[in-house]
Amino acid sequence: MPAISASAPGKIILFGEHAVVYSRPAIAVPVLQVKAKTTIVADPLAPPHSVLIDAPVIGLSSSLKDLDPDHPIRFVIQQVMQALDIVELPSVRIRLTSTIPLAAGLGSSSASSVSLARALSTFLGHPLSDESINRIAFESEKIHHGHPSGIDNTVTTYARPIFFIKNQPIEWLEVGLPMIFVISDTGQSSHTVSVVADVRRNWTAAPEKYEAWFDDIGQYAFQAKQAVKTGQLDEIGRLMTRNHELLQELDVSSPELDQLVETAICAGALGAKLSGGGRGGNSIALAQSIDQAQVIAESLKSAGAVSTLITTVPMSER
Ligand code: PMV
Repeated sequence: MPAISASAPGKIILFGEHAVVYSRPAIAVPVLQVKAKTTIVADPLAPPHSVLIDAPVIGLSSSLKDLDPDHPIRFVIQQVMQALDIVELPSVRIRLTSTIPLAAGLGSSSASSVSLARALSTFLGHPLSDESINRIAFESEKIHHGHPSGIDNTVTTYARPIFFIKNQPIEWLEVGLPMIFVISDTGQSSHTVSVVADVRRNWTAAPEKYEAWFDDIGQYAFQAKQAVKTGQLDEIGRLMTRNHELLQELDVSSPELDQLVETAICAGALGAKLSGGGRGGNSIALAQSIDQAQVIAESLKSAGAVSTLITTVPMSER
């Protein structure tokens, strides 16, 4: 039997992180240059039902039965088996690789779950629908994140720009003009679960203040949806920077993220903000052209970014 592979892209959140957990809208787009990939091969010479897993990016090399029952990889495999009504797996080797930086707000955990669920169900002869894959990735995000909104697994499953509201049908985002983003990495880990927990603690202590900030962030996401549709890049950039200011109020930024945002704007970006859980990870900046994106990327590197990536969100097909 030939090897079966499946992959899923990284992602950035353009608007609405954190507020999205509290049912405000958010916008996310896939980042296709980076991806998680799972490859599965039959291992006919191994003992029956031997499932060996290799995930070098997280330093994992183990048999399935030796993984902690709560391990996200084991969880995803079990969810796929359950969905397909399969009790035992044939002997296989499963290899997960990824070019998505870990703990950087770029969706690496979701993309890994999506690629694993897709590759395994295909290998077993019954490729699951995107809807089922999305549900499995969402359930596994709960292990990583506690109370995820579902935005990461949705954008990585469908690999399309989305306008997302928790527990609502997915809305595809209409893109009227291509958007060029410079993604820059602070090099610091972003631990979404603890940042989300801090925001929840602060929200519980001062609900009115936090609800008002979430409302404002949600309004920016609504306005941005329209600006993205009509290709008003200036307006998108302005809203991004305003969104970043509110993320600072929520106390999820960091001096390094603020420095990258300020540097990008000084270098001519139309707007910039942190992207994802925050307190580390990546910032994003909207550029007017590829040439300008390269200039911004150079400035960001001089200001301490450990890496930069330029990504383009193409215009929607009509
Ligand atoms: O996984 P991250 O770091 O990109 O963060 C996801 C966005 C949050 O709004 C902070 C959490 C969530 O579940 O929506």
